[in-house]
Amino acid sequence: MTARRTHRCGELRASDIGQEVVLKGWVHHRRDHGGLIFVDLRDRTGLGQVVINPQDNPAQFDDAHALRGEWVIGIRGKVRQRPEGTINPKMPTGEVEVVVGQWEVLNRSDHLPFRLDEHIRVNEEARLKHRYLDLRRAEMQSNFMTRAVAMRAARTYLDSQGFIEVETPILCKSTPEGARDYLVPSRVTPGAFYALPQSPQLFKQLLMVAGFDRYYQMAKCFRDEDLRADRQPEFTQIDIEMSFPTIDEMCEVMEGLIAAIWREVKGIEIPLPLPRLSYADVMRRFGVDRPDLRNPLEIHDVSGLFTATEVKVFQMTLESGGVVRVIRVPGGGQLSRKQLDDLVAFAGKHGAKGLAWLKVQEGGALQGPIGKLFSEAERTGLLEVISAQEGDLIVFGADSEKVVCQVLAAVRQELGRLMNLVDEDQLALCWVLDFPMFEHSEEDGRWYAMHHPFTSPHREDLDRLESDPGSVRALAYDMVLNGSEIGGGSIRIHDSEVQRRVFTALGIGEEEARRKFGFLLDALRQGAPPHGGIAFGFDRICMLLLGTENIRDVIAFPKTQSATDLMCDAPSEVSEEQLKELFLKSTVVKKKDEPSA
Ligand code: AMO
Ligand code: AMP
Repeated sequence: MTARRTHRCGELRASDIGQEVVLKGWVHHRRDHGGLIFVDLRDRTGLGQVVINPQDNPAQFDDAHALRGEWVIGIRGKVRQRPEGTINPKMPTGEVEVVVGQWEVLNRSDHLPFRLDEHIRVNEEARLKHRYLDLRRAEMQSNFMTRAVAMRAARTYLDSQGFIEVETPILCKSTPEGARDYLVPSRVTPGAFYALPQSPQLFKQLLMVAGFDRYYQMAKCFRDEDLRADRQPEFTQIDIEMSFPTIDEMCEVMEGLIAAIWREVKGIEIPLPLPRLSYADVMRRFGVDRPDLRNPLEIHDVSGLFTATEVKVFQMTLESGGVVRVIRVPGGGQLSRKQLDDLVAFAGKHGAKGLAWLKVQEGGALQGPIGKLFSEAERTGLLEVISAQEGDLIVFGADSEKVVCQVLAAVRQELGRLMNLVDEDQLALCWVLDFPMFEHSEEDGRWYAMHHPFTSPHREDLDRLESDPGSVRALAYDMVLNGSEIGGGSIRIHDSEVQRRVFTALGIGEEEARRKFGFLLDALRQGAPPHGGIAFGFDRICMLLLGTENIRDVIAFPKTQSATDLMCDAPSEVSEEQLKELFLKSTVVKKKDEPSA
């Protein structure tokens, strides 16, 4: 029976009753029942029920008892209404079944290492090792169909806005995005290496110099960095660059892209324009540059109230140039002592030396560890500044500004969870703009680019590039969704002199700049248009579309936390000959009983 498939298993409906059909797929379940054999036949569209009976299949009926789960079969038969009482309203194909006239086994299957049923929790190691089986599960199939729809929506939108898709190289030279490079040794040039792109940053800028005007690419990026739940060493960006953009135009076009994706995938209309917040503002109010705006809690600076305080921690903090900030939690007075102790411990894990708290009681009395130490002016001042009400909880962070931001940002999220303040179904998008140009590293006493070294400083801040780099703002922006940074970009430097000054500020000398980025510096002097762009983390977007916390759920063949592929066993050792050909020698000392490659 080599007949051509007429339908997919999950497609049959009552309107197909009476039709002769050919289905092919996997045996999901086989049930023997009342002298009949029922098979739930599965493919990526779902399940369809087929019935094998002894009358229509006298020759093949006995063989049908041998059918096992995950065998691949083809059937030809007629669609009929399911008999009264056997209709399954939960299944899209639940009204019909196919009475099999003929069938054949296309392939058998060994016993699988785990069951594919949806409700069964399989450990992730097994899923990754047998990824092709894991991907057979309906949930994973649905994830990747969603990913494909999102990608198509992005392409369709960008095409409609006049963007041209251009591919850029994978074997290239290092582009600094703040991670380590993956290197590929050259056979032809002994001792030399390609770097895999951390992003196509320089190529897309050069495409603007080349006059492409609007570019995009579904770009694979490679970063050797510590992995987290939302990071992979190899991931996909929707990478975008445009010539002559204003910030307004940039934001408008990019918001349109995200709105188009959510419209297409979820049928949700995101209200535009998105709110725009400055970096300084979000750091003060939320303590992080990617605030979850679903959470209504905010941080308030109350340092000014405690300049002459009796409270030791506040006094010492302020004397050493630190800050005192609070979060008011409406109704937080109901939290138990145990919950508060846990919260203090939680803050400790995020770097706090303590987490003072107070409950606001009747008449504005303050109850808690430091309540008695407050002067009357401090008490009333505090209640007024944060508009505290009876029943509220107030938590305090006192430390350097950096530590307080870090601690209270985490505590704010934790309180949002404890108090059930975050509506999981809400979408809270915003832009964060005006990031600082540079970040100072205490460790090695130098400045680093907060975004990347090709980002343009604010024009008004240019004259402080050398004298006060810490105060220079960048024309950089991130798009944030529910506390996750889904994209980041900037207006670029298109003037080679400004680029040279930024390199100098970063401690990149003339010679090093030429060696690493000479081609860019030359291009900037040869009619480079003003340009800017952004890159969205496409995997992160898919995570948010699907509501999953694990980036591996949206990448077909992902790596583990230790950057390995368990299925194909990569990275793996290579032969001596291969190393020799590449002029490489390993310095790894093997343990005695370890087998060589
Ligand atoms: P940036 O480094 O901010 O900018 O990256 C852009 C977006 O890519 C996503 N992302 C990641 N996703 C998964 N795994 C990772 N390891 C990972 N690292 C980053 C994030 C992030 O917002 N060239 C610039 C963009 C530009 O300036 O146009 C760049 O790569 O969602
Ligand atoms: P102590 O003076 O160490 O007994 O602390 C008094 C209260 O202040 C306790 O509730 C501590 O949790 C809290 N506390 C201590 N250090 C800090 C800090 N850096 N920020 C906020 N609260 C603190």
